[in-house]
Amino acid sequence: MSEWLNRIYCEDALAGMARLEDASVDLIIADPPYGLGKDYGNDSDKLDTDAYLAWMQQWIDIALPKLKASGSLYIFLTWRYSPEVFVMLKARMTMVNEIIWDRRVPSMGGSTRRFSSVHDTVGFFAKSRDYHFDLDAVRIPYDEQTKKARTRSIFVGAKWLELGYNPKDVWSVSRLHREHRERADHPTQKPLEIIERMVKASCPPGGVVLDPFMGSGTTAVAARRCGRSFVGFELNPAYCELIQQRLAELPAAPTAPETVS
Ligand SMILES: C[S@@+](CC[C@H](N)C(=O)[O-])C[C@H]1O[C@@H](n2cnc3c(N)ncnc32)[C@H](O)[C@@H]1O
Repeated sequence: MSEWLNRIYCEDALAGMARLEDASVDLIIADPPYGLGKDYGNDSDKLDTDAYLAWMQQWIDIALPKLKASGSLYIFLTWRYSPEVFVMLKARMTMVNEIIWDRRVPSMGGSTRRFSSVHDTVGFFAKSRDYHFDLDAVRIPYDEQTKKARTRSIFVGAKWLELGYNPKDVWSVSRLHREHRERADHPTQKPLEIIERMVKASCPPGGVVLDPFMGSGTTAVAARRCGRSFVGFELNPAYCELIQQRLAELPAAPTAPETVS
């Protein structure tokens, strides 16, 4: 397996993932095309509903055997297709959470025949009940004022009061606007804050994260920053280069990234 690690495969994920060993990855972070016609420099987001759902089922069937028994999957979706995709995944995995990523999009007028949609629906699924989950790694510190206010006896000496609280299932993190320091040239780049929380909670230190649809490489960057390895696929060669650049800019990248075409 080690020859796969920390490599960007510039190819179709369905063909590439099929070559990975079964039960070899700890975590899959999947951010597939949304089925909404976005331009990724290819036709990957231009399928009609039936073809899109058939394609989703196809890659899911290839990806899931790659997870270890203790492994999990996070998948980014929109409200349009999350019901169908959740049904596919629930047939094979335990659903742990539905996470709402509130992108904190500012109000701008927008839709006049419906409410403005400002969230991604993220499914968190586990392969078995014995899945890896490190809550302490992702707790959110209480502020001093809140700590002081917790004077009732049930709070006294409570470990979590010092360690912080369990993040809720609504994650309110601003999308990366054009001027954001993390922003790379990719239309649906995800914030590191979100991906790093998934990596720290659901991949053991030194473990392996699989990203079938790398885009700008946020998962790879998060994995390396958190001391994990990655393996990933991306169709667009320009994005593969972008991922290389982002990884090369990391302060002390333990190994030089490599792209395979
Ligand atoms: C939603 S974006 C991923 C964004 C990424 N999470 C980030 O933070 O930058 C989906 C990406 O999947 C790529 N893609 C689509 N179909 C693919 C396939 N069959 N194999 C590999 N990559 C694919 C697209 O080119 C696009 O860059």
